[in-house]
Amino acid sequence: MRKISVLARLVATLWLSANLALTLATLWAAKRYLPYLSEAGGSSSAVIGVFLWFALGVAGYRLILAFFPLRSGELREGSSQELVFQAIHLPSNFFFFDPIIRCGLLPTPLTRLVYKAFGARIAANSYPGHCMIFDPVLVRIGRNVSLGHQATLVPHVIEGNHWALHPIEIDDGVTIGVNAIVLAGVSVGKGAVVAAGAVVAKFTRIAPGEIWGGLPARRIGFVGSV
Ligand SMILES: CC(C)(COP(=O)(O)OP(=O)(O)OC[C@H]1O[C@@H](n2cnc3c(N)ncnc32)[C@H](O)[C@@H]1OP(=O)(O)O)[C@@H](O)C(=O)NCCC(=O)NCCS
Repeated sequence: MRKISVLARLVATLWLSANLALTLATLWAAKRYLPYLSEAGGSSSAVIGVFLWFALGVAGYRLILAFFPLRSGELREGSSQELVFQAIHLPSNFFFFDPIIRCGLLPTPLTRLVYKAFGARIAANSYPGHCMIFDPVLVRIGRNVSLGHQATLVPHVIEGNHWALHPIEIDDGVTIGVNAIVLAGVSVGKGAVVAAGAVVAKFTRIAPGEIWGGLPARRIGFVGSV
């Protein structure tokens, strides 16, 4: 595991402090200028404050990434990409993404909106539900995709000191089975099926209509002819 650099810790601390200050300032302004909020008691203010913390945090994350995007490829030690990953992306996971996604309280239709807010590209009629999509900004999911319970998409590579990012592409009509794990750089073609419990190794290309299963996943058939 790599060390988080001092500069990354400093930038992360500045960003999160700015988010806290912005949250408190917005809360203060809302209570001052919105008549129906001025009467709000302590617990209502806390709820609004928590909402603002997350909303402003996610907006800040997306804004920063618009200027300093995470690119596909190696995250070399000391590089500006590593700094964005350590100072912005990791803290966004720890302080915003994990508490929202892992709380288990989000209804499935809302998971779609939340993942999109974090930058995932998800087309119509595909709902993440209770799967786990790491680094949503690096994931594209087509239409009518079934994502099984506890399936996991992992577009980052963190293997000791080797860190990299490789987008995952899931095409229209794909089924990702329950508990399947799809690793970095994988693409799954139209209508393909990843079997329950499969582990799809990095950079695997699954062609349209194929069925892949096992650990590591291999082609075990074709849709309609297993
Ligand atoms: C892979 C899958 C599509 C195969 O289903 P099927 O077409 O009915 O095929 P069968 O169950 O008859 O199995 C056919 C072969 O695939 C193998 N197989 C089945 N499920 C497998 C799995 N999860 N992993 C590895 N191999 C599997 C069987 O052992 C069998 O192999 P064999 O021909 O060598 O004996 C199905 O088992 C599966 O995993 N579906 C995922 C469902 C899911 O999680 N959906 C998401 C819900 S939202």
